[in-house]
Amino acid sequence: MKKRAILIRILVISIMMAFSIIETKGVQASETCIECHKKITPGQVKDWSVSKHAENEVFCSTCHGGAHQSAGDVAKIILPDEHVCAECHEDQFESFKKGKHQFGWISMNTFHITHVEPDNLMEGGKGCGGCHNMGIKTEAQKKEQSQKGYRYQNNSCDECHTRHSFSKKEARDPQACQQCHMGYDHPQWEMWSSSKHGSRWFAKQRGALPKDAQAPTCQSCHLPDGTHNNRTAWGFLGVRLPLPEDKQWAADQRTILKALGVLNPETGKPTARLEAVKAMRLARLDRESFQEERDKMIKRCARCHSERYARKQLEMADKMIRQTDRLLAEAIEIVAGLYKDGILKKHADQLFGYPDFFYFMRTDYSPASSESYKRLPAGMSYIEQVLFQMYMKHRMRSYQAFFHMNPDYAYWYGWAMMTKDLGHIKALAAEMRATHMK
Ligand code: HEC
Ligand code: HEC
Ligand code: HEC
Ligand code: HEC
Ligand code: HEC
Ligand code: HEC
Ligand code: HEC
Ligand code: HEC
Repeated sequence: MKKRAILIRILVISIMMAFSIIETKGVQASETCIECHKKITPGQVKDWSVSKHAENEVFCSTCHGGAHQSAGDVAKIILPDEHVCAECHEDQFESFKKGKHQFGWISMNTFHITHVEPDNLMEGGKGCGGCHNMGIKTEAQKKEQSQKGYRYQNNSCDECHTRHSFSKKEARDPQACQQCHMGYDHPQWEMWSSSKHGSRWFAKQRGALPKDAQAPTCQSCHLPDGTHNNRTAWGFLGVRLPLPEDKQWAADQRTILKALGVLNPETGKPTARLEAVKAMRLARLDRESFQEERDKMIKRCARCHSERYARKQLEMADKMIRQTDRLLAEAIEIVAGLYKDGILKKHADQLFGYPDFFYFMRTDYSPASSESYKRLPAGMSYIEQVLFQMYMKHRMRSYQAFFHMNPDYAYWYGWAMMTKDLGHIKALAAEMRATHMK
């Protein structure tokens, strides 16, 4: 929404309040809220007072409603979701809705593991839910959450411009992405910050490079020019359709798709999970949508590099995916062979007698003290845990590091670890075969 439209909206609200078309409490409330909260939560009032909202008369009650007026009626407060922001920031809201962040909550909830882990780690906004809170929730999802006793985490917009300063400058700082884009399976923060791109950015911050020296941030490549729509060509899983022309690579990607449960390992036909992949746009499923994202990215690189240079760098990364797929497919086939020969047994809630990456790190560990652990199905074998780590941690690092220009992650934390995993899997499989009782 344009600035004028926002100002008009504020004006309309004020006029409606003045003529008591809507509850006039709102007007007084904006005063009383601040007066009282200066004593109750002074830090918050301070933070709000440095925001553009304070400058533009967007008060506490504009977002939280005017119904709560004292310590006794706190339950009446509205905890504003993204739709409240959308009333004045429609453009950003619409753009956000088209992007990948919109799917955070849904994709987390699609996973089986989400529903057997402690709720604190999901609805409570720590663990998976701390990062996957990103995304607009349906009314039903919000209701379910509050029934479980979790009241907060209703807003995605405050993930990058945190409340109550709601600053644009903060969201443009790459550190706004750090909390979520780090660690085990997506260490983009670590990779970028220790690459030439990142170290240059830090040098600029320290004044070691002139202000106009160029250094791309996460936002330069993923959220340029005010867009809130983030999507990449390969996505997270590093698979795509149609399968590559290279025969070996196509076969290896097919093996990985089976381990993702997207292709039936017995018939090779798509399963119901392909629908989930489509719905949450987990992968590009035709040539055009891949190329569209790829071309956009190359244009972004070409602000600083030659287009030819940029294209070459990204092609190298694609080839790296091919290399990692060879190692991974070999490992999957070894474990699949253990199922085939009856050494590993399919458990009740597994789709197929085949390794399944969507089961995550599940083990047989079930402490009797925890209610939620009682819901745990049978676990993943140790050899499958090694395989999962090879896929989720080490394959991701090998190619994500190429995209984020990080030599160390590409080799030592990525490729070298994959070769080690494969060696480990071979040794475990040999031992399992040797000790298996017919
Ligand atoms: C007379 C004092 C008083 C007034 C007036 C007041 N509040 Fe509060 N508010 C409180 C107290 C006390 C709490 C509870 C703080 C706590 O749990 O530590 C609270 C809690 C809140 C919360 C947090 C709710 C939660 O679930 O954690 C919000 C949001 C809030 N107030 C907003 C407002 C807004 C908006 C207004 C004006 C419409 C307002 N307050 C007016 C005293 C007041
Ligand atoms: C632009 C909208 C907006 C304005 C203006 C606003 N808030 Fe909030 N506030 C939010 C959002 C979003 C949340 C987080 C909701 C959630 O977690 O579900 C929140 C959460 C809170 C909370 C509970 C969480 C916490 O950190 O304690 C309190 C208390 C609160 N606001 C007080 C205030 C007060 C006091 C003012 C006025 C000085 C104010 N808010 C103005 C959007 C706003
Ligand atoms: C009643 C209208 C209104 C609502 C509701 C509202 N805002 Fe704003 N917001 C504004 C106005 C007005 C500005 C100042 C615009 C400007 O300076 O161009 C602003 C500015 C901003 C900015 C830019 C700040 C900067 O540093 O330049 C951000 C970010 C922002 N709002 C986020 C939010 C979020 C997130 C929510 C919901 C939690 C929200 N707003 C709800 C009216 C609103
Ligand atoms: C530290 C924050 C964080 C935690 C904790 C986390 N995730 Fe994620 N998750 C992310 C990010 C960031 C991505 C996107 C990574 C990428 O594209 O490289 C992601 C991707 C995903 C995807 C794939 C979505 C896609 O676009 O392909 C799924 C599904 C998922 N996570 C589920 C989970 C589950 C289930 C848990 C808990 C067992 C979890 N995540 C824990 C941040 C987190
Ligand atoms: C993933 C991080 C992220 C999330 C989530 C996010 N934003 Fe932003 N937002 C940004 C960045 C980065 C900018 C600065 C864009 C620029 O000017 O380069 C920005 C800018 C803005 C601005 C200022 C626009 C202007 O040009 O003055 C508003 C308003 C805004 N966002 C609202 C929202 C709303 C509403 C939501 C939730 C629907 C939201 N944002 C969610 C990263 C985010
Ligand atoms: C609160 C956590 C959080 C923050 C903060 C965050 N992200 Fe994300 N991001 C996620 C999650 C979760 C996903 C995966 C969404 C899904 O499950 O589909 C994701 C996905 C992405 C993707 C899409 C990858 C793909 O699959 O194509 C990009 C790009 C991205 N984020 C960039 C950013 C940037 C840039 C910032 C900072 C401006 C940022 N994110 C801030 C949680 C976050
Ligand atoms: C110089 C540009 C550039 C910068 C800076 C950058 N990225 Fe990326 N990012 C890429 C490219 C290129 C891809 C892969 C695109 C594709 O699939 O073709 C990518 C992919 C991603 C993905 C999808 C999974 C993956 O890693 O392949 C996420 C999520 C992501 N980046 C987040 C971030 C975050 C967070 C930062 C900052 C810490 C960041 N990126 C910095 C260029 C960049
Ligand atoms: C805002 C400018 C800018 C953007 C955008 C940008 N780069 Fe860079 N890049 C630089 C600068 C400056 C350097 C450091 C000087 C040099 O090595 O050329 C660099 C270095 C590199 C290096 C060498 C790293 C090393 O370790 O030697 C590669 C490879 C690279 N960029 C690829 C890319 C790709 C691919 C993209 C797009 C996905 C991209 N860059 C986007 C400015 C940028």
